[in-house]
Amino acid sequence: MNRKYRKTIIAGNWKMNMLASEIKAYAAALKSVSASAKWCETVVCVPAPLIPGAVKAFRDCRVTVGAQNMSEHAVGAYTGEISGAQLRDVGAACVIVGHSERRAIFGETDTVINKKVLAALENGLKPIICVGETEEQRALDITESLITLQVKAALSGVSAAQMRRVIIAYEPVWAIGTGKTATPDDAGEVAKLIRAVVRKMYGARVARGVSILYGGSMSSDNAYGILAQPDIDGGLIGTASLEPESFAAIIKAANQ
Ligand code: PGA
Repeated sequence: MNRKYRKTIIAGNWKMNMLASEIKAYAAALKSVSASAKWCETVVCVPAPLIPGAVKAFRDCRVTVGAQNMSEHAVGAYTGEISGAQLRDVGAACVIVGHSERRAIFGETDTVINKKVLAALENGLKPIICVGETEEQRALDITESLITLQVKAALSGVSAAQMRRVIIAYEPVWAIGTGKTATPDDAGEVAKLIRAVVRKMYGARVARGVSILYGGSMSSDNAYGILAQPDIDGGLIGTASLEPESFAAIIKAANQ
């Protein structure tokens, strides 16, 4: 973390879990920790139908609410899709874009992800752009070129001014939901690479200000080590965000 230049962000990703009726108790359990976490911004990315309820429940907890996906289209005949304007309208502040589950299960390409990033920014949402390599790609030693490609493609057409609202999450695919985590040094190396790619595209000032998160089996046990890396500014947390107690423990670690 480097609090002089950028925000520390702890973001939960509930994925397709939780019900509207469970949010109030969750918010109450998180409140004492999140409300006093002065050094870190807490975000919870919830399933779209839960956004209005979450916005209401988290209002006094210093927790902002985000979405997990959005359409790359603005408006019109796209049955089942949800636009950036609609997410903003119900109170979402940010949106996860390009999560590896969407890339793998729903076939999202770098081109579509780029369109979603641009659409998010146009609608006043902060995109949390996910990049990461699979186990096979790591074994092939192509992590560096793959991450470079994913970052460059996702940011195509994003202005330097818009970069102030962009968050990038490094999520090695093999670490997501598996209990395996990248070592702090390995995660830190990739975060450093991502910042170098941003620096090449936008210059040192923009690169210095971008928050880069780590995601992939992050827990209260490994959070301290990972967050101690100078280029890692927070976490994107799936499994451990489903229980307010384990999520709160990571917020505490980030608030040290
Ligand atoms: P995990 O998920 O913490 O359960 O590994 C992280 C993510 O998919 O964002």
